[in-house]
Amino acid sequence: MSSRTIFLFLCVLLLIGSCQLETKVRVIKMGHSQVTTHPVHQAMVFLGKRLEEKSGGKIRLKVYPNQQLGTERELLELLQIGSLGMTKVSAATLEAFSPEISVLGLPYLFRDDAHMNQVLEGQIGKELLLSAEKFWLRGLCFYDAGKRSFYSKTKPISSPEDLAGLKIRVQESKVAIHMVRAMGGAPTPVAYGELYTALQQGIVDAAENNPPSFYNSRHYEVCKFYSIDEHTALPDVVLVSTKVWKELSTEEQNWLQEAANESAKYQAELWKEAVAEALREVQNAGVEISYPSKTPFFEKVGDVYSQLIQEQPQLATLIQRIQQTPQ
Ligand code: GCU
Repeated sequence: MSSRTIFLFLCVLLLIGSCQLETKVRVIKMGHSQVTTHPVHQAMVFLGKRLEEKSGGKIRLKVYPNQQLGTERELLELLQIGSLGMTKVSAATLEAFSPEISVLGLPYLFRDDAHMNQVLEGQIGKELLLSAEKFWLRGLCFYDAGKRSFYSKTKPISSPEDLAGLKIRVQESKVAIHMVRAMGGAPTPVAYGELYTALQQGIVDAAENNPPSFYNSRHYEVCKFYSIDEHTALPDVVLVSTKVWKELSTEEQNWLQEAANESAKYQAELWKEAVAEALREVQNAGVEISYPSKTPFFEKVGDVYSQLIQEQPQLATLIQRIQQTPQ
């Protein structure tokens, strides 16, 4: 073989090699707990689409819904070791990794939606998103998870007195446990994916959630009373494993952050309609929706604030900063 032929042969090899490098695609796996009809799933699919577009197809997102990869707590643990790239969990689940986040679970924390948006989109929101970074969990953005209200199998929850003697499913969150106890119910932590069966089998008598989750989880098939007391406005949090984040170039990190921000806007647009649809559908399915006065619920929650501050005194300033945020 002449040296010219060898040279050409090597050029071809190099070309093939660089083409392979060019087409190397990074696939980020993202797991979450909701079904595919839920607006948060749709927002994640949108996030993946935008990421693929921005990266020219070099980064793809593969979304695993429905707790296929584990409960929210397990998903966070997978992120910590880097075997899962991204997730979306309720702020309540993140509480175990960030004391600051637990503040978001305080009942009637926000005066209204405008106040909530000011807090979450401002400096406090930024700090909260990064508050679990030391545990390898980097928050990218919040998703709207509306307001949580009680639903029960046996009767409407018209006032806290109606919670007496009921086993109420709560998320794996200390603040949620304190809240239900302060209101007079018996808090019972159950993972979201196991709640349908727990309700059916009478392990718990009632639960609480926002309308799209009450509807998409089909809990309305078992619980025929939905009492809109809107005790908490806990957002969802989209997170990336810090291990995966550090493997990305600055440009790639920017694409991911931008795609996440855009998906949050998209999710907020979907949310309003999803709430209206959920309320309409559960009513059609025979659920009695009631709107009790919030005052008696509100009057019970002082202890929840003092208990949290007693356990974590450093959170007093954060609570105050949130309360003093103007809208
Ligand atoms: C909401 C939240 C989920 C969470 C669920 C729960 O639906 O968006 O992330 O799993 O509440 O009650 O556990």
